[in-house]
Amino acid sequence: MPQIDDEVPRHIAIIMDGNGRWAKSRFLNKAAGHRAGAQALRKLATEAEKIGVKYLTVYAFSTENWKRPQDEIETLMNLLRDYIQQYIDDTKKNDMRISVIGETARLADDLQAKIKELEEMTAAKKGLRIIIALNYGGRDEIARAARKAAAMVMSGSLSISAITESYFESFMDTAGIPDPDLLIRTSGEMRVSNFLLWQCAYSEMYFTDKLWPDFTISDLKEAIAQYKGRDRRFGARKE
Ligand code: FPP
Repeated sequence: MPQIDDEVPRHIAIIMDGNGRWAKSRFLNKAAGHRAGAQALRKLATEAEKIGVKYLTVYAFSTENWKRPQDEIETLMNLLRDYIQQYIDDTKKNDMRISVIGETARLADDLQAKIKELEEMTAAKKGLRIIIALNYGGRDEIARAARKAAAMVMSGSLSISAITESYFESFMDTAGIPDPDLLIRTSGEMRVSNFLLWQCAYSEMYFTDKLWPDFTISDLKEAIAQYKGRDRRFGARKE
């Protein structure tokens, strides 16, 4: 049995940034950068599972990414189709559970159907849980959760005073998933960019200049080593 390090963050969230710059530096088109990014993610997920990570949430497409050129949007959607299909084909081989968060109703019907198929096929898996944020925005998620709570209040099935932080959490896309311990962003940008705004309240942040397609398990281990050196107090005082 491999030794599991219990200090490894249980949940890691990643903003996979820098695919475009990676491609440009190699005189390739953006599609090649996103393809390399998708490959990097597949490889990293397997390695992360081996070292004991339980949840991996990745920002694949934000509510703001619709503002990109149409051909880039199509490239990303097609990559997601392929990626999801690969996991559907792999379900017998691995024990990963995959789910999607975000406003999926805006996605193409066939993509929605594939997502549903993959989520159902892997629902009982016990290995690494990969959560793909797709047409996801933190503010949008909070607004959708508020609408769900408001509808229940209007129908008389929920009282206003029952809307506590922990109850409100049950309306979020990530209901039941522990908050990320560590948030990683690649490519030198130091912003949260509307990712997991509610869930990252106490996450440790790690920024690296590495571009996403170049990010490997040794970079992840470096991020984890830094995380282990942090003093997490969650607002309290440690005597
Ligand atoms: C940011 O790089 C990355 C994205 C907008 C999409 C992330 C997508 C992938 C890694 C591939 C597909 C994902 C899955 C789950 C299959 P950028 O294009 O903004 O980079 P730049 O800032 O250098 O232009």
